[in-house]
Amino acid sequence: MGSCSPAARLLLLGFLAPGVCFQFVPVTDQVNVQCLGSLARLRLSSAYFQNKYISFAAIDQFGRPWPIDEVQSAKCGYTISQDVWGNIELRASLLGCYTLMDDQHFTLNIQITAATDPGMQHTVVLNVPVSCSYGPWQPREIVCEANYMEVSVRRNVPPIPDGFLQDQPAGPPEDWAAAFPEAVAGASSIWQIVFHMDARRKAMRVEEAHAAGYGVNTTDTRIVLRAPYNATEAQKVEVNGIPFSSVRSSTYYKQRWMLLMVDTAVTCPIDGVYYSKETITWTIPKSIPPLLVGAGIVKELKVDMGVNLDKLSTQDIRSWGYSLASDKDAIVLKMPIGAPGGNYKTYVIDGKPMITYKIAPYVEHLWEDDKRGITKHTILKDISTPLQLVPVIVTDYTNASLQLFNATVGTFLPDVVLVSITVDASGPWPLPEAEKKGYKIYEAKYSNGSRGYVVQVPFDAPGVGREYVPDNIRSYTTNPILGFSVIPQGDTFDVPVPLTALVQDAVLPQAEGFCDDEALYLVVKRGNVDQDWLPFAGDDLLTREKAQALGYTLLDNGTHLALRVPRQAAHVRYEIAWLMAQ
Ligand SMILES: *[C@@H]1O[C@H](CO)[C@@H](O)[C@H](O)[C@H]1NC(C)=O
Ligand SMILES: *[C@@H]1O[C@H](CO)[C@@H](O)[C@H](O)[C@H]1NC(C)=O
Ligand SMILES: *[C@@H]1O[C@H](CO)[C@@H](O)[C@H](O)[C@H]1NC(C)=O
Ligand SMILES: *[C@@H]1O[C@H](CO)[C@@H](O)[C@H](O)[C@H]1NC(C)=O
Ligand SMILES: *[C@@H]1O[C@H](CO)[C@@H](O)[C@H](O)[C@H]1NC(C)=O
Ligand SMILES: *[C@@H]1O[C@H](CO)[C@@H](O)[C@H](O)[C@H]1NC(C)=O
Repeated sequence: MGSCSPAARLLLLGFLAPGVCFQFVPVTDQVNVQCLGSLARLRLSSAYFQNKYISFAAIDQFGRPWPIDEVQSAKCGYTISQDVWGNIELRASLLGCYTLMDDQHFTLNIQITAATDPGMQHTVVLNVPVSCSYGPWQPREIVCEANYMEVSVRRNVPPIPDGFLQDQPAGPPEDWAAAFPEAVAGASSIWQIVFHMDARRKAMRVEEAHAAGYGVNTTDTRIVLRAPYNATEAQKVEVNGIPFSSVRSSTYYKQRWMLLMVDTAVTCPIDGVYYSKETITWTIPKSIPPLLVGAGIVKELKVDMGVNLDKLSTQDIRSWGYSLASDKDAIVLKMPIGAPGGNYKTYVIDGKPMITYKIAPYVEHLWEDDKRGITKHTILKDISTPLQLVPVIVTDYTNASLQLFNATVGTFLPDVVLVSITVDASGPWPLPEAEKKGYKIYEAKYSNGSRGYVVQVPFDAPGVGREYVPDNIRSYTTNPILGFSVIPQGDTFDVPVPLTALVQDAVLPQAEGFCDDEALYLVVKRGNVDQDWLPFAGDDLLTREKAQALGYTLLDNGTHLALRVPRQAAHVRYEIAWLMAQ
């Protein structure tokens, strides 16, 4: 540490002073770099980058940084994503703008600037060198990324397909050089791109195409065109009911003294995902007309799939519960919701927990046609199932003989944590405090990672109500409200846990009355359900004062209530009873 060895895989440069090298850290600690086919992936360590403001730049061959913003990323072949857990990922096309390459070996340098403040004043700059090998390239390779469509076509081959020519109102190729003399004199080897939109054509020079958001360039052996999905010249086409975005273009380029043209049509699905209760079905039609213009015989070669850009073997596909079917019309990929490779996430919508399952599959389709040779079509897809309400189930296992409420509440994804309990409008109490008051919570973990909670409350805990229901039964009730929080978002929701137990433990008061010459007496032995029962004489509530005013004597020693009513006192009525003697 402390050295500035250029051999370091990752340089941590400059703290408040970019360019001053003071520390180097192995790249694997903060950034994981992988080469995945024609893409490179950088995964930033969430431990290191959490709660930091991050920006990316690509370093060109002269060491100049080019910030990667939204427009630049679609044009230059970068995709940046961040999940709710703060995991940040950057994918780069190996044919991206600032890659140094010979079409087999690719090096690019990504600069990551991390700041602790939004104004990016206090920054750490990391330079991540990436070098990948890839090859051999197929004559045509198409990548459908999240934010752009990319096509690269081997130069020279294939020749212009006949059908393609009929398809456009341009004159025969021999006319072009004559019609556009600047093609011969121009500096760039790409001369112009002609976009085909239904019957219209629109020609652009490379600079114009760049200004319109396209990435256009040549490599040693290929022509590359990259288009954002919302490019002005992009058209929405439907193939077997599934919408695709399509940019149909031909790119004219000079090679030595020749002016040549390649078909640089690129077409990517923008949907095709269907959700049932248990399964995600992703359908990709095979015969995509804009990619097959002029083709006669189309030969199917191979269909592969993977998740998170990791290719899966047939065996993995089966053991993970996926299915990959391919017939002459379509590729159909089915993934059970909850299958390995994806993740569940909880969100709180209108105070209710809802879950979604996220998975990022990709499909690689190889076919060969008689005009263009082999095409490799790689389609990446980020899938999130529609948010689904998860019913929170409260199951009451209370066994009254134990004098304890016992219930389970669940189930919750691992990103949900119980944080508080509210009882009788007091609280919310944090868990340790609730525990002190007798509200005990145990966590129950399930093998699928979900968890539930066991709530146990003794019948004599605060917040437990007791009520008499006739026939010697008391009803014990409590309604603790559990407060949950979703990590890392911090959104909260409440789950009431209404619990009731009927217990045959009511003891009714027993009253006994007698008289003597002076007074009438009533002695009531209290039970356990008469705390709220009050003595009345006629319509008068017998408070101590009222009793005194009426000349009664009222004694209550806690277990018994005794009342003495003098014979002449108010409310005493005489009734004559006729005794009939036989
Ligand atoms: C095209 O690629 C070359 C070689 O990698 C590079 O020098 C040039 O800057 C690229 N042009 C654009 C517009 O990206
Ligand atoms: C495409 O989307 C980007 C980012 O939202 C926007 O900057 C650009 O203007 C859009 N382009 C067109 C042609 O709509
Ligand atoms: C309740 O608990 C008692 C004592 O542990 C036990 O004997 C009884 O079987 C339990 N009742 C039920 C319904 O589980
Ligand atoms: C509470 O209920 C759970 C779930 O049925 C049970 O496993 C546990 O033994 C019960 N505990 C008590 C103290 O009744
Ligand atoms: C996890 O397992 C529990 C208990 O078997 C079940 O109730 C829950 O639905 C499962 N959760 C998911 C997401 O499959
Ligand atoms: C309360 O009064 C009743 C009747 O007057 C008597 O039997 C009982 O022992 C008294 N209890 C106490 C705790 O003083």
